[in-house]
Amino acid sequence: MTESSSSSSSGKALIDVLTGCSNTRRPLWFMRQAGRYLEEYREVRKKAGSFLDLCYNPEMAAEVTIQPLKRFDLDAAILFSDILVIPQAMGCDLGFVQNEGPKVSTVRSLSEVEHLQTEGVVEFLAPVMETVKLVKPELEKQVAFIGFCGAPWTVATYMIEGGTSSDRFLAKKAAFDGEPWFDLMIDKLVLASIDYLVAQVEAGVEVLQIFDSWASDLPDLQREKYCYAPIARIIDGIRARGVTVPVIGFAKGLGAGQLDFCDRIAVEAIGVESSLPLKWISDNLIEKTVVQGNLDPVLLDAGGRGLADGVRHIVSNLPKERHIFNLGHGVRQTTDVKHIHEMIDLVREFDQ
Ligand code: CP3
Repeated sequence: MTESSSSSSSGKALIDVLTGCSNTRRPLWFMRQAGRYLEEYREVRKKAGSFLDLCYNPEMAAEVTIQPLKRFDLDAAILFSDILVIPQAMGCDLGFVQNEGPKVSTVRSLSEVEHLQTEGVVEFLAPVMETVKLVKPELEKQVAFIGFCGAPWTVATYMIEGGTSSDRFLAKKAAFDGEPWFDLMIDKLVLASIDYLVAQVEAGVEVLQIFDSWASDLPDLQREKYCYAPIARIIDGIRARGVTVPVIGFAKGLGAGQLDFCDRIAVEAIGVESSLPLKWISDNLIEKTVVQGNLDPVLLDAGGRGLADGVRHIVSNLPKERHIFNLGHGVRQTTDVKHIHEMIDLVREFDQ
């Protein structure tokens, strides 16, 4: 890349920071920004019937993708879908039960893994690509559009446990034992994820995020094989298919392991959990990579003085040229939109 092209602005703060261009302002968006804390989301969700009906209805999914942008001064929209549509596209039954979360038909043996399809995933998920195409022309020119998938480990935990589980015991046991069926499952998830991300980019997303929400489950000994290597293979796979958009890796809870993650994975930014100290981030990570995060979603929910202190602590420790303001995990359902306005105003005021 020539000097002039690397310093020319895309007109989008998020993409500028991710590509090392001098940016105009600190990019800000937040995980689960489209969701139940918004009354307009709850209304569309009711009309759709179920969460999955909403995910597979392109007009409604596009509407909820855009909703937070209408309320807040954000630098990105994130595609409205879920990481668990991949197992569904591979042949698992999927449902979402009110107040209980996802239910996935379990996959726990070689013959069950052999039945998982990797062909036809993109065709199954065609409505998601349709959502991308509907959203894209509606976004203002300074807003970047983020697509995503779950990392193989995190998605596998839901397939093995059959849904959310408190300790992911069965999934962890399969990983500790290096079960051949488990390795095959990870391989299949890598292939399906590559196809899915390539299709999202072809449909119009401009940045990708890979969510490894349960990365902290994996001890040191298993991290390379089941967290770093599958994500690295996904990135190599999309690059080999001509995808050039920036990628954000979010492996939640790695702690000091975030250093290995960023050394090992060729991502443009890493998302970090709320428990990672700001001084450690600025001493160890910020020179190596752009960092996204890491306000505690509980702080945003609680509001008040703690919120103001927490926001200022983050922005005063991390330079806006290397930082994407976000939460350390998804926004909580009980969050008051007033607190979100306060958070955004505080970030913008600081950077003035
Ligand atoms: O961030 C966004 O606004 C984009 C959409 C998005 C959703 N889920 C919408 C959603 C994204 C990027 C996800 C990712 C996701 N989904 C992850 C990784 C990030 C994380 O939160 O750790 C995981 C683990 C899932 C699986 C999942 N989906 C669970 C465990 C649940 C149930 C928990 C809950 O909050 O109810 C979901 C449901 C879900 N995904 C909702 C939304 C808006 C709530 C569903 C509803 O409307 O009832």
